[in-house]
Amino acid sequence: MGSVLKVNRLSFLFFLAWCLSILLAKSTALERSAYIVHMDKSLMPMAFRSHRNWYTSIVDSLRFVNPASLVEQQSSPSLLYVYNNALHGFSAFLCKDELKSLKKSRGFVSASKDKPVKLETTYTPQYLSLNPFHGLWLDSNYGEDVIIGIIDSGIWPEHPSFKDDGMSARVPAKWQGSCQEGEDFNSSNCNLKLIGAKYFNEAVSHALEGRKIRMNSARDITGHGTVVASVAAGNYVNGASYFGYAEGTAKGVAPRARLAVYKVCWEEGNYDADVVAGIDHAIADGVDVISISQSYFFAPKFNDPISVGSFSALEKGIVVSTAAGNYGPRFTTVANPMPWVLTVTASSTDRWLGGTLTLGMGLDVTGWSTYPYKTVLQNLPLVYKKPLSSCDSPALLSTAPYGIILCDLGPFLERQISSITSSNVSGAILIASTLFELPKTFCACLVISSKDARVVINYAESNIMASASIRFQQSFMDARPSPTVARYASRGPALAFSGILKPDVMAPGSDVLAAWIPTLPVTEEGSHVSLLSDYILVSGTSIACPHASGVALLLKSVHPEWSPSAIKSAIITTANPLDNTLEPIRDLATYLQASPLAMGAGQINPNQALDPGLIYDAAPQDYVNVLCSSTFNLTQKDIERVTSSKNYNCSHPSRDLNYPSFIAVYNDQTIPLIQTFQRTVTNVGKGAATYKAIVTAPEDSEVRVSPNRLVFGKKFERHSYNMTIKFKASYVQQVSYGALVWVDEGAGNHTVRSPIVVCPFVV
Ligand SMILES: *[C@@H]1O[C@H](CO)[C@@H](O)[C@H](O)[C@H]1NC(C)=O
Ligand SMILES: *[C@@H]1O[C@H](CO)[C@@H](O)[C@H](O)[C@H]1NC(C)=O
Ligand SMILES: *[C@@H]1O[C@H](CO)[C@@H](O)[C@H](O)[C@H]1NC(C)=O
Ligand SMILES: *[C@@H]1O[C@H](CO)[C@@H](O)[C@H](O)[C@H]1NC(C)=O
Ligand SMILES: *[C@@H]1O[C@H](CO)[C@@H](O)[C@H](O)[C@H]1NC(C)=O
Ligand SMILES: *[C@@H]1O[C@H](CO)[C@@H](O)[C@H](O)[C@H]1NC(C)=O
Repeated sequence: MGSVLKVNRLSFLFFLAWCLSILLAKSTALERSAYIVHMDKSLMPMAFRSHRNWYTSIVDSLRFVNPASLVEQQSSPSLLYVYNNALHGFSAFLCKDELKSLKKSRGFVSASKDKPVKLETTYTPQYLSLNPFHGLWLDSNYGEDVIIGIIDSGIWPEHPSFKDDGMSARVPAKWQGSCQEGEDFNSSNCNLKLIGAKYFNEAVSHALEGRKIRMNSARDITGHGTVVASVAAGNYVNGASYFGYAEGTAKGVAPRARLAVYKVCWEEGNYDADVVAGIDHAIADGVDVISISQSYFFAPKFNDPISVGSFSALEKGIVVSTAAGNYGPRFTTVANPMPWVLTVTASSTDRWLGGTLTLGMGLDVTGWSTYPYKTVLQNLPLVYKKPLSSCDSPALLSTAPYGIILCDLGPFLERQISSITSSNVSGAILIASTLFELPKTFCACLVISSKDARVVINYAESNIMASASIRFQQSFMDARPSPTVARYASRGPALAFSGILKPDVMAPGSDVLAAWIPTLPVTEEGSHVSLLSDYILVSGTSIACPHASGVALLLKSVHPEWSPSAIKSAIITTANPLDNTLEPIRDLATYLQASPLAMGAGQINPNQALDPGLIYDAAPQDYVNVLCSSTFNLTQKDIERVTSSKNYNCSHPSRDLNYPSFIAVYNDQTIPLIQTFQRTVTNVGKGAATYKAIVTAPEDSEVRVSPNRLVFGKKFERHSYNMTIKFKASYVQQVSYGALVWVDEGAGNHTVRSPIVVCPFVV
């Protein structure tokens, strides 16, 4: 097995521009747009048998608003979906006049226009692997009794990762979903692994105005959903690799968990109404965790479908895990900042791919490569000549003498790689200042570090007969430091919720081996290669998210009584802030220590999350209190829109929440800053325990914890404490951070760590 990923920035941006143009094209008076309409279902007139009847009659009545629409049948207002779980209401295609009239209808709460959603995958070329999380696997029986709902672009059901070999026939009893038939997809495409598959195309179909959807079923033709599903819950597949790289047994984080896929992302575009419908069904079908590797690429709104749908999921005890976005490394770019979801950013792991250069005099140098063929370059002349060594002109390269060309460190490595790929040279050695986050290579090229390059250049310059060999298709497990925060990953703070630290945690996201559509040939732009494979290496917070979703799923299986907040807390307080050199994790954007605004609490640490010692729990009303103090200035009606319920109000707005991390945001007016956080922890260890607070204060801050010792007499006992930060800085504009760690003084060996951030509002 082996393949290439057709994922280049150009086609990706093109895809986004296209989504936008679909939406922007609709603006004249009779043109209709999709609206998501929130209704107060308690106001349904008695005459209607069901909400669907009621909503249908409302939409039907709108036909008379605009006489022109009566003439032309095709353009009457139409109902898309009825929603019962993610929110209460429906979606419909309406023009401006119809919307105006709808607003006067009994029970109307609000309407919002459909916006494009974005899949979270960047193609940052760096290769990683999954970790086998043994302790949690054993305790959860690999997730056999739990179900994950994937809201994405569908699935390639025949892929070996989705076979049900070894899966028990006892599908969890609460499962209410089904396998929806469609183009190239029938009920026999589901099995004991893939227990559900549905697709939601009403909004996209409408937008296409009669043009056909290319794959009108839950079948994935873009690859994104297949990748995400395999990372979260792929079955074991032996001998998987990407052209011989990263070879081994492929598996998801929860390899025995059941998969339910909800296709809401289409090659033709993604629409809010379809996304809400997918989440609505996932909740009703009985999934335990919902994984959403998507976000809005405009500033998040409090009532976008992911916010609204995930709040309903929270109320039903469903954990929602989302991608932090790939808009980094600028600050305040974090997507999906809602306090009630887990927001996951991306890291590297310690596996990297490449080959070995052997110089004629016997020295070995390892370097980066993803050259997809088994070729070995054996004892070729080593050519180092200026201006050839700039390696940025295919024409010049085609005049090169036979041999391996040694290129100088240039400003544009990608351009050098593409020049070499489109020339006829037998092989090349390129130089980069570090070997992190390098592009994929489709040429017989090896990228070495500038440190290693000195000896290679010396040898080439001082030997007329210099020669070299290169072996490709090697995987190395020694990347140091690792993990590191990916450069592309979005950063906090989340301006909408400035009292909540986001992102929450980091998970492997760069160059992860994942299932791919075997018939989808994928090649980098400009390379003369078109290859197929069952597996690819992909990067992005889209890939990090399903890792965390899988961990949440396993935790849910072991601790079914834990609330979504408790599961999040366990994942956050056990995350590891150190790398494999036992130093603080670094940020690839700066090569300096990563702040919690980049990595949250650190790298997820599944086996520790199994037994976190203490948890910070929170109820839905607590989240509403935070929403009430957000920058959105919400009214009671807005709160009803987000929560789809009249049970919540803003009588106790609060910027703080019983959250497992701390952030204090200041501005010119608020320094010196004194802020107190109140927290309550629940003992989920085996029995009595005593914890001691250990604080690393952020620079220029004084941190007090009171009380600084917590004595628990038994399991599930709760204790409160206050933490006060006093921050004095001579001048603004710097992020400082530290941590509060509750250390179990007994045999329990728990450390419950919360990052602390003090940062200016505008960083
Ligand atoms: C589903 O499709 C496959 C392949 O097209 C076919 O062999 C099978 O009989 C179909 N199953 C059902 C239940 O329709
Ligand atoms: C590479 O070699 C082929 C065949 O020898 C030739 O047709 C082609 O023009 C060459 N490409 C370049 C960029 O020189
Ligand atoms: C919210 O209210 C505050 C104070 O009334 C105001 O300064 C701010 O502009 C408002 N924000 C929005 C988004 O309306
Ligand atoms: C707000 O909600 C609380 C709890 O549900 C309730 O006790 C209170 O009366 C509500 N306040 C208002 C103004 O609706
Ligand atoms: C925390 O501070 C609040 C407000 O000052 C106070 O009412 C509460 O008793 C304190 N809690 C603890 C555990 O000290
Ligand atoms: C406590 O846990 C750490 C890892 O978290 C481990 O290295 C250490 O050996 C443990 N100590 C005891 C006494 O179990």
